[in-house]
Amino acid sequence: MTVFLELGQRPDEPGPPIHGAKIYPAEVAARLAADAETVIARYPQSRSALLPLLHLVQSEDGCLTPAGIAFCAKQLGLTDAEVTAVATFYSMYRRTPTGEYLVGVCTNTLCAIMGGDAILEALEDHLGVHAGQTTEDGKVTLEHVECNAACDYAPVVMVNWEFFDNQTPSSARDLVDGLRDGKPPMPTRGAPLCNFKETARVLAGLPDPQAAAAQTPTGDATLAGLRIAKERGMEAPAADAATDSHSGPDDEKVATEATKDQAAPAPSADVPAQPNEPETDPDATESKT
Ligand code: FES
Repeated sequence: MTVFLELGQRPDEPGPPIHGAKIYPAEVAARLAADAETVIARYPQSRSALLPLLHLVQSEDGCLTPAGIAFCAKQLGLTDAEVTAVATFYSMYRRTPTGEYLVGVCTNTLCAIMGGDAILEALEDHLGVHAGQTTEDGKVTLEHVECNAACDYAPVVMVNWEFFDNQTPSSARDLVDGLRDGKPPMPTRGAPLCNFKETARVLAGLPDPQAAAAQTPTGDATLAGLRIAKERGMEAPAADAATDSHSGPDDEKVATEATKDQAAPAPSADVPAQPNEPETDPDATESKT
């Protein structure tokens, strides 16, 4: 049986469904297969290498393509549908072509409060694109992203997943201007920027072209808790003390004994029974025919 799955884009990203070549030319497939072999060898089970391999095919195409999905499936002994199910779950796997720099503006709670929405709006105006679109010169793809665990530097803008902290609408405009002018600024933390395809190779676990470059140090805000803990002589509890404070096997046994003869909770009074719905009608069977 053949199942046809057409991959759509994220709801906020206008554009066509995933498209492109269905198969790689032989020399591309051979080159990618050599890289894939390196990645797969790191895992006890080959299918565990799916996430890095999806980054690997993004390093070739700049986004997911039918050829990339088929390549991953073939390398890992999976079906195209299984690869598709994983690929479409994670927003780092792009479903539309990506510019040289993927600029992600965090609009999650803390960044939004600190001005993330204003930054996104300013960049949409400045670049003349909406979130999910790429500038005509192919340099910048703009998107909004969820929390990047950098809330201590909110509002944060990511460029190819490197941090630009404490941004404002005007600093974000300067940032994208630098990217488009071929003068990418140094991220606030971490290594110098790579382009999107190079970054995807690094995310696949392949050598980082910027590994030897000077890295910017960890920021003060990240280390503030550690500094205060040291000043006050605070230490983490010993491992055995942490274990003692948790329920042990005996506690679990007592809890099981105490509840095993109790009736299962009745359906909530707030949820009226629906005929033929297993969740609320005890006479309904699990499978409907
Ligand atoms: S809310 Fe933006 S990094 Fe956490």
